Amino acid sequence: MTEPDGYIADRRAIGVFDSGVGGLTVLHECLVNLPHEDFVYLGDTAHFPYGSRRLADVRRLAFAAAESLIQLGVKLIVVACNSASSAALPQLQSTFSTPMVGVVMPGARAAVQATRERRIGVMATEATVLSNAYQNALHSLDAGLEVFAVASPRLAPLIQEGDVYSDETEQAAREAVGPLKAAEVDTVILGCTHYPLITPMLRRLLGPRVALINSAEETAREVGEILVRKGIGNEEGREGDYRFFASGDPEEFRQVGARFLQLPIREVGQI
Ligand code: DGL
Repeated sequence: MTEPDGYIADRRAIGVFDSGVGGLTVLHECLVNLPHEDFVYLGDTAHFPYGSRRLADVRRLAFAAAESLIQLGVKLIVVACNSASSAALPQLQSTFSTPMVGVVMPGARAAVQATRERRIGVMATEATVLSNAYQNALHSLDAGLEVFAVASPRLAPLIQEGDVYSDETEQAAREAVGPLKAAEVDTVILGCTHYPLITPMLRRLLGPRVALINSAEETAREVGEILVRKGIGNEEGREGDYRFFASGDPEEFRQVGARFLQLPIREVGQI
């Protein structure tokens, strides 16, 4: 594609972070939708899980992760963790000049578009549910919605361990889905970036009439729009590069991560 006259490509990478490997589901969407951009992903695995921590702790960890990415010279940060978006996005946005995109509002927007009965379920970590971030985002878009949020403390850790198809994972999913089925929601937001990995299990438990919302696609779209509007996109037609850092064991991240990214993960640096 030819860029307009006077166009200067912004070659800086886009930063993406999560408490672990869950944010790789968001990175996956960004990589397939914006193949000409460079990305740097940080998995704060040394502090996983964020979801069972107090909101103030999650906020502190989110600030440290964002600062690490800013030091690496990124042009935009995707907070690819619902717990961190819920606990810290407004504070991150008001502290740093680097544009920050969270995953809560994109998911809420997609859910509001999908629901017919205006009954929306949210499955998320304890931190995300306690923060009321989804409830607030959904009601800011449609004040008449009924929102049912269920916290699952076990699901993300089981998925992070790579235990995606075990009986224990299915049991935890069943427990989370139960109240949402009872509430007769017609749309369920996967309010944790780890959950897209168990989509088939959730579809089977919720039934074919319930729409499942994965905010990764919406988030990638929003990132693309911001790059265009701010004029900070890289040169189209080139093939971008992507690299990884983990705060915990890099080898463990590499092994579990490829399944979430569905693309090769070569080197993982420690940060
Ligand atoms: N991926 C994180 C999120 O989206 C959840 C995992 C955690 O508890 O750290 O909320």
